[in-house]
Amino acid sequence: LSADQASLVKSSWAQVKHSEVDILASIFTANPDIQARFPQFAGKDIDSIKDTGAFATHAGRIVGFFSEIVGLIGNQSNVPALYTLTEQLATSHKARGISTAQFGEFRASLVSYLSNHVSWGENVAAAWNVALDNFFFVLTSNY
Ligand code: HEM
Repeated sequence: LSADQASLVKSSWAQVKHSEVDILASIFTANPDIQARFPQFAGKDIDSIKDTGAFATHAGRIVGFFSEIVGLIGNQSNVPALYTLTEQLATSHKARGISTAQFGEFRASLVSYLSNHVSWGENVAAAWNVALDNFFFVLTSNY
């Protein structure tokens, strides 16, 4: 990830990082199999859960994780911390039986959300692609 790419990821993430509920709702809508893994939300109509405190809590944790990661990228001295956080995510999700294919679905839906909600273009798309490739490399190496 070049310095320019790191700043594109940071500036575009800043445009959506407070839309936690909207982001998680769009991921659940596109991937019922992901929603099905959340005991509290499985089988429920998105509109009926979207405005609940429990949904906001989960959305805040999941989207907040990305904020933490994005906050660390672009600085070589943060690489060990990026590895540690990503390895922990792999461990906790592997233990829940979440497949890497489901992470792939999550990724596709996140990129789709970004492309519709931030100033998007070739350079921004390429920067996210490299950042997510790096993240997924560490994640799947720990599966
Ligand atoms: C919990 C992040 C993908 C299912 C969590 C938590 C975080 C998180 C931070 C809370 C801490 C923890 O328990 O580990 C993420 C991120 C993802 C991702 C950043 C993508 C890059 C997925 C996918 C699934 C999933 C694809 C299911 C197919 C769950 C479940 C929980 C959870 C079931 C526990 C919820 C509960 O406490 O009831 N996730 N997650 N996650 N995640 Fe994920």
